[in-house]
Amino acid sequence: MAVRVGFVGAGGRTVREMLDLVQIPDAEIAALCDIDVPRCQQAVERVRDRTGQGTNQEAIERAGAMNPAFFADVLRMLDGTDLDAVYVSLPPFVHGEIEHAIIDAGKALFVEKPVALTMAEAREIEQHIREKGVLSCVGYQSRYSTAVQAARERLTGVPIGLVVAIRMGGLPGTPWWRVQSRSGGMLIEQHTHGVDLMRYLAGDVQSVFAYANTVLLTDVPGLDIADVNSATVRFVNGAVGTIANTCALQPGQGSPPNVAGAVHIVAKNMTVMVSAGNATFMLPERRREEVPGEGDANLSMNQAFIRAVQTGERSGILSDYTDGMKTFEVTYACHLSAERGQEVRIGEGY
Ligand SMILES: NC(=O)c1ccc[n+]([C@@H]2O[C@H](COP(=O)([O-])OP(=O)(O)OC[C@H]3O[C@@H](n4cnc5c(N)ncnc54)[C@H](O)[C@@H]3O)[C@@H](O)[C@H]2O)c1
Repeated sequence: MAVRVGFVGAGGRTVREMLDLVQIPDAEIAALCDIDVPRCQQAVERVRDRTGQGTNQEAIERAGAMNPAFFADVLRMLDGTDLDAVYVSLPPFVHGEIEHAIIDAGKALFVEKPVALTMAEAREIEQHIREKGVLSCVGYQSRYSTAVQAARERLTGVPIGLVVAIRMGGLPGTPWWRVQSRSGGMLIEQHTHGVDLMRYLAGDVQSVFAYANTVLLTDVPGLDIADVNSATVRFVNGAVGTIANTCALQPGQGSPPNVAGAVHIVAKNMTVMVSAGNATFMLPERRREEVPGEGDANLSMNQAFIRAVQTGERSGILSDYTDGMKTFEVTYACHLSAERGQEVRIGEGY
């Protein structure tokens, strides 16, 4: 039996996930929900168009044949459709009631990062998931890259000393993104992927001390997020690190090599760089090994989620809600630290 999937939010990210789902024979896109209902039809058309430009004939047929029901309200979608799983793909400020409704309905839950905007909200959702035993997955697709898996394997049991997660990029077009109370800011919203890779490869974080400021995009109307931030991180295992992030690059400006979105790790007798889905290992005596990422990590994530819903076997999910919440917590602690001008220890004082 195919896994029947619904989506809440029919924006850009949902289109990306639907493009994967039409490639998965065991997935059926059964419903879409958006307060702006015409966006549901637009999403379907974009998926048909984009799939049609490819060569996967079965996916083209599935995209043509899909006939999801459209809803303006998640409760009506849950009442009106027989679903196995729901993807939540919303601007960050909308998290909360929608997840609780899906969990109450007993559906498997896929949440796009960031999982929430406050720790209180994230903890409530996580507790609800645990009480109901609902299967969950958070959209940290980089974990599914074969290169990231190779890096994680090579780092297992090796002492790690220094970790750097850096991202230099531009301002995304979605209007809510530049508003602090809607997106949480660029570290919580975007560089969360780098922070997640840090955690996935180097372990849990103990404390952070962050600075953030708005200095380069002061002429952008309506922008109130920091456009540069930098944090010093201490890991539970004793490693130290840096998180640095800007969204101030102009279109076409380009960023220096290997900092568009990269994690660098200095471990015992080995330096690892994960960037653009590839891993590079630098070893003593000038040895250097490149491990290119193979396949499509986002598709692998969606395949793992659909398989888990179908079989009940959760081991293929590399970031469940609890794990996604821990990554959010590090970025949230950085936000608080910058605001308070002092160190924040994970789990303390908020
Ligand atoms: N993993 C990734 O690489 C990645 C990439 C892009 C976006 N994302 C995440 O996906 C999420 C959505 O981003 P997006 O770019 O698709 O945003 P978007 O603005 O394109 O789409 C969001 C949609 O949600 C709808 N919406 C708002 N409130 C709603 C409600 N109460 N009920 C139903 N629909 C509602 C909006 O009308 C809009 O169509 C964000 O959390 C973002 O961080 C993840």
